[in-house]
Amino acid sequence: MDLHDYKDVAENYDRYLEVMYSEFDAHEGFQEFYLQLAKKYGEGGVVDIACGTGAVLLYLAERGIDIDGTDLSEEMCKVAASKAEKMNLNLNIYPADMTKFNSGRKYSLAVIARSGFMHLPTSQLQKEALLNIREQLLPDGILTFNTFDPWPAVQTGQMNTTPEDYTFRLEYVNNNGNKEKIYNAISYNPFTQHMHGNWKFVEYDEAGNVIGERVRPLLMRETYRSEIFLLAELCGYEVFDIYRGYLGDKEDLSDPMSAAKYRSNLIWILKKK
Ligand SMILES: C[S@@+](CC[C@H](N)C(=O)[O-])C[C@H]1O[C@@H](n2cnc3c(N)ncnc32)[C@H](O)[C@@H]1O
Repeated sequence: MDLHDYKDVAENYDRYLEVMYSEFDAHEGFQEFYLQLAKKYGEGGVVDIACGTGAVLLYLAERGIDIDGTDLSEEMCKVAASKAEKMNLNLNIYPADMTKFNSGRKYSLAVIARSGFMHLPTSQLQKEALLNIREQLLPDGILTFNTFDPWPAVQTGQMNTTPEDYTFRLEYVNNNGNKEKIYNAISYNPFTQHMHGNWKFVEYDEAGNVIGERVRPLLMRETYRSEIFLLAELCGYEVFDIYRGYLGDKEDLSDPMSAAKYRSNLIWILKKK
């Protein structure tokens, strides 16, 4: 299966995410966070980039925010669009790569929620995305995305595993009404900063027999905060704010050691220069 083939994932994404995040949710509070951001910066229109099945897009649209959605995966866009239709929301949701998208309109706020930016596997592609998004923003427009501070203890563990060393993650009921178990295997390459591996979905019938198995590759890039500062400068943005998680405090931008104190989901707020 291709890395960006979300065909089978799209239909089940909301279902297993709900179970996954019921135990620990590093993104807790994300929808409300983006709503407040949209109220503050979104008066010229908002675009939800890598919108997936629409968790942010639909939440904001339902609350009166003027918002478009785009995602690389056609299947994810289709799921988001069908949810929008059921909610009687008439939205512009289009498949596109964030390094290239151009809807023909400009936005005052661009959102990349819940780790969409980490799916860009090289700093070159990160740069291309930041430059393209800048073009789609109005003057003084805001871009927000998140990165996790790499945490050596975790990455060291992942360096000792292979993409086939599966760990059980969760069990849920899929869109066929069948029990499905999810396993993942993640390795880390410290030179490319890639987290790469596989997600395995094993489907069972009522009698407990395995009736299907799908493996989906995973590739995400860990990015150090110093890289984001450099990329922002290179691509014409000012680092305006950084939040430590969606419920978190603001980072002290003048304290270079703050990364050493906290393991953080950093929410970057960049302003177009
Ligand atoms: C972790 S999901 C997050 C989805 C959504 N933002 C949410 O909060 O539920 C990442 C999404 O990024 C999309 N994606 C990956 N690479 C992309 C790219 N280059 N351009 C646009 N979307 C991309 C995937 O298709 C997937 O839907």
